[in-house]
Amino acid sequence: MSFGSEADTRVNGTVRGSATMDDASTAGEAIGRDRTVAVVGTGTMGQGIAQVALAAGHTVRLHDSAPGRAAEAVAAIGARLDRLVEKGRMTAVDREAAGGRLHAAADLAELADAALVVEAIVEDLAVKKRLFADLEEVVADDALLATNTSSLSVTAIAGGLRLPGRFVGLHFFNPAPLLPLVEVVRGFASDETAATRAYETVKAWGKTPVRCADTPGFIVNRIARPFYAEAFRVYEEGGADPATIDAALRECGGFRMGPFELTDLIGQDVNEAVTRSVWESFFQDPKFTPSLAQRRLVESGRLGRKSGHGWYPYAEGAERPAPHTAPPAKAPERITVRGGLGPAEPLVALFEAAGIAVEREEGEGGDGRVVLPGGAELHLADGEASFPYQREIVYFDLALDYAAAGRIVLAARDGIAPEVLGEAVGLFQALGKQVSVIGDVPGMIVARTVAMLVDLAVDAVDRGVATAEDVDTAMRLGVNYPVGPLEWGARLGHRRAAMLLDALHGRYPTGRYAPCPGLARRAYAEEEAR
Ligand SMILES: NC(=O)c1ccc[n+]([C@@H]2O[C@H](COP(=O)([O-])OP(=O)(O)OC[C@H]3O[C@@H](n4cnc5c(N)ncnc54)[C@H](O)[C@@H]3O)[C@@H](O)[C@H]2O)c1
Repeated sequence: MSFGSEADTRVNGTVRGSATMDDASTAGEAIGRDRTVAVVGTGTMGQGIAQVALAAGHTVRLHDSAPGRAAEAVAAIGARLDRLVEKGRMTAVDREAAGGRLHAAADLAELADAALVVEAIVEDLAVKKRLFADLEEVVADDALLATNTSSLSVTAIAGGLRLPGRFVGLHFFNPAPLLPLVEVVRGFASDETAATRAYETVKAWGKTPVRCADTPGFIVNRIARPFYAEAFRVYEEGGADPATIDAALRECGGFRMGPFELTDLIGQDVNEAVTRSVWESFFQDPKFTPSLAQRRLVESGRLGRKSGHGWYPYAEGAERPAPHTAPPAKAPERITVRGGLGPAEPLVALFEAAGIAVEREEGEGGDGRVVLPGGAELHLADGEASFPYQREIVYFDLALDYAAAGRIVLAARDGIAPEVLGEAVGLFQALGKQVSVIGDVPGMIVARTVAMLVDLAVDAVDRGVATAEDVDTAMRLGVNYPVGPLEWGARLGHRRAAMLLDALHGRYPTGRYAPCPGLARRAYAEEEAR
């Protein structure tokens, strides 16, 4: 039965009776628009989810334990629909009809006809468990039960249920009416049929669902951790300041926002709580270690935009610090490119287009490099620092797209002669790029962040958390990454990512950077195929 035919059923005035989960007519299909959806907890997320279900044509019942809150939510959703009508995004007739289908339920017992209940109450395991135990007494045995928890175990919430098979996670993102991604989380005891019904239902609501196993952080909050953590580490090590790191990830890495400005927007307390929860759920695995610098911000009350100060100041008139940008320097007239530059190969055509004479030479094993007349050798960030070399190695960071990048980031050892470094700066400035010079940090900024994202994404796929396609979809839609981490891994090369992490593991032997077995295996296969 399709979504459309169920809608027709309603038009014809036929209301479907309840069926059991195993009923072949409903197994794995979307819940019909003629069925009631209940939302419990009518704060930020509950209201958003209710609006989505309402827009899809369901009758929606709202319940909240705080007296009067469900009625307030009905009014707030109504006001939002009114604004959609004003903006011409909803017809007055549809608005009227939607209003007629939205009801506040003062008592949980009023949710008895719900075919799906989505819970969005306080993030507390005991409170959620109690609610679902009560709900099981109210709804039919074939009703789907879903939690919108961001950080609790779906399996644990379902732990005490009489029928845990019909329980799943439906993790919407805020604001739910606007953001397309929904992680459909299958708990340890969830039936495949229940997960598929939940998946098909949110798909019919116009969302982009992805399937995932019940794991700390699900897909997005698990794999995104190093995006914040690596930036905070580079800052803690004195490699660069927040504005420069943000600019590197935005203008060179292609991310929509940098980690410092993004966590100021999210709230340092909220972002840190997610990190700590994932880290603790993984029994303090060093891949997820939180940041001391962020801890200090939270302790001091610098929570970000909402408190007027986070990594950056937000008081009226406060100036946002600018990234460090190198002053103009003279470009070399000719350069030698020795060997292939791998992911940085597009730079060669850009150098030539800028009028720089490029001489190409065979490489002597290992990675390619750009040799400048003044003596500097430019290498793509590989996880090493430049200080141990006898030669003047200047590292440049990985870019998502070297032609489109507005900024190139360089790292060199302390004490490098200014004219030697200046020639490297001038070379990239000749391409019309801003250049930032950071400290001699192994793996730099974008390269180490991307390598860690690739590592966690590969590991999640290998452990059956989600398919590669769903991981990439989730990271693009959930946190706006310019490409999914698995696609990025394929572009960069697993071998390169694994070698970079191996080098970092040598410098920081905590286990954080040890490539996961699946990355090492893929790297080996690439090596064999060379
Ligand atoms: N805010 C987000 O960005 C976001 C995103 C995804 C998931 N989540 C998850 O969604 C859930 C709700 O988050 P929120 O930000 O909407 O919270 P919120 O504080 O805005 O709203 C929670 C509501 O639940 C009500 N409530 C508390 N205990 C209840 C109970 N026992 N029975 C009925 N109602 C109860 C409260 O009165 C309140 O109105 C949490 O599990 C959270 O982790 C939040």
